[in-house]
Amino acid sequence: MSDLPKWRTDFPILWGADNYISRREFAKYLALVSGATALGNGWFVLQKSRSSPSDYPSQEVATVDEIPIGGVKLFRYPSQNDPALLIRLAEDQYVAYKQRCTHLTCPVHFAKESSRLVCPCHNGAFDAATGEVLQGPPPRPLPKIVLRIEEGRILAVGVTG
Ligand code: FES
Repeated sequence: MSDLPKWRTDFPILWGADNYISRREFAKYLALVSGATALGNGWFVLQKSRSSPSDYPSQEVATVDEIPIGGVKLFRYPSQNDPALLIRLAEDQYVAYKQRCTHLTCPVHFAKESSRLVCPCHNGAFDAATGEVLQGPPPRPLPKIVLRIEEGRILAVGVTG
C-alpha cells in the first residue's frame, strides 16, 4: 500500500500538471471562441455584400420641381422605420441618404451654407455630395439611397453602403 493520501489516489493529477492542463484547456477554449467569432463576422460580411440595390422596393420620393435648389425633403425608405433625406444640390443634382448618423444614430441635418450633413450629438459632419465623413466620430459614410429619375419623378430604388 502506498503512503499517498486517499484523495491523491482519487485525483491522480499532480499540482503542476493540473496547471498545465488548465492552460491547455483555456487555449482550446480561446481558439474555439476566436474561430466562432471569425466565422460569425465572415457570415455577416457575406450577407452585407449580397444585398444589392435590386433587393429594395422602388418608391416615389418627390417630383423634380418639388424642392428648390438647396432644399431638403424628408421621407422614409426602405421601410417606415428608416428616416431619410433627399437634397437638391444643383439644378439636376439630387442626393439622398439615410438620416441616422453612423456613430450613434442621431438624426443628421443638412447645412446648406457648408453643404454638409451635420450631426448635433457629437459634432459629426458628412459631405452632402458623397456622404463621406468630414469630421467627428462617425466611423463610416452615411448609407446612400440610390435614386432614379423617371418622367419628372424621383424614385428611391436602393441603398448602398
Ligand atoms: S451620433 Fe452623430 S456624431 Fe455621434
